[in-house]
Amino acid sequence: MAHLEDYQNAFLMHLSSKISQKEPRNLYEPIEYILQLGGKRLRPILSLMSADIFGGQSEKALDAALAIEVFHNFSLVHDDIMDGAPLRRGKPTVHEKWDINTGILSGDAMLIMAYQLLESYEADTFAQLSKLFSKTAIEVCEGQQYDVDFESRTDVTIAEYLQMIKYKTAVLVAAALKMGAIIAGTSKKNQEAIYNFGLNLGIAFQIQDDYLDAFGNPETFGKQIGGDIIENKKTLLYLKACELLEEADRQQLIHLFDIHPNDASEKITRVKELFQTSGAADFARTEISRYTTIAFEVLDTLSIADSQKNILRDFGTSLMNRSV
Ligand code: IPE
Ligand code: IPE
Ligand code: MG
Ligand code: MG
Ligand code: MG
Repeated sequence: MAHLEDYQNAFLMHLSSKISQKEPRNLYEPIEYILQLGGKRLRPILSLMSADIFGGQSEKALDAALAIEVFHNFSLVHDDIMDGAPLRRGKPTVHEKWDINTGILSGDAMLIMAYQLLESYEADTFAQLSKLFSKTAIEVCEGQQYDVDFESRTDVTIAEYLQMIKYKTAVLVAAALKMGAIIAGTSKKNQEAIYNFGLNLGIAFQIQDDYLDAFGNPETFGKQIGGDIIENKKTLLYLKACELLEEADRQQLIHLFDIHPNDASEKITRVKELFQTSGAADFARTEISRYTTIAFEVLDTLSIADSQKNILRDFGTSLMNRSV
């Protein structure tokens, strides 16, 4: 069994081998830019790990891992346009560095490249992978639409929020793991279990992303702190704070999430205060560990050695303690 860095290095070598400088530059340069900006490479690592754990060779999962990472980066380029985000991984977003049209078309090309990467698999595996991929990709679009719809809705429930993050984020984490399992040729039962592990881990991951968006360290986080507050995103922090606050504070929070001030700094400071004093920030932290624990419980249903389960557990624990 390889170490985390081995998976990461194998993935990065594969990424460089597949990226070549192509024309037209205005289409391909933004693609090279975003893919080489780094990022945690969480999803491809999970694909490789999963292939290994279920007894396949992780090298066979490299193309699927890259397909997942290219798709993820496509979704980020379009997400940053939709969220009006200036920063990604500590650098200007694609639409800031170039323009919105460039972000749209380079994103489109990445989505197609992701599908092309699956063409290297033999027919039966290809059929399974592309079916999973298409289902996942359409769910991500649905999740992204709910996310945007919720910005202007005032009656979003926590159940709706959870469904939204399951679609926009968790299904891709789950699909990354299941692709590794498909490539390894493991049982359908194992494939479903690893998918469910990924769903719960992905939900914890997005709640933490929301938490860090407000409370992360601006020096290291790599994205604009308070971006979700500026955009009136109905995150768990907001929804739980509305539930917990006394009426006057609750009305103030609702008002703050109804406006778009030119200078958002005061709004961000006050909203963060309300997230803290209401207990919503603590609640979010508890939910992150609760969903991570549920993910670990799913692992118990997998028929693989305990040492293999521990690799997934350690990875889940390290994700929960991340600061970027
Ligand atoms: C960001 O994903 C988008 C979400 C689904 C929260 P990551 O936090 O995995 O981004 P990178 O790839 O590491 O930059
Ligand atoms: C992004 O969610 C989910 C997808 C890109 C599909 P966010 O909008 O919270 O991701 P960040 O915070 O910009 O990375
Ligand atoms: Mg965003
Ligand atoms: Mg978004
Ligand atoms: Mg976010």
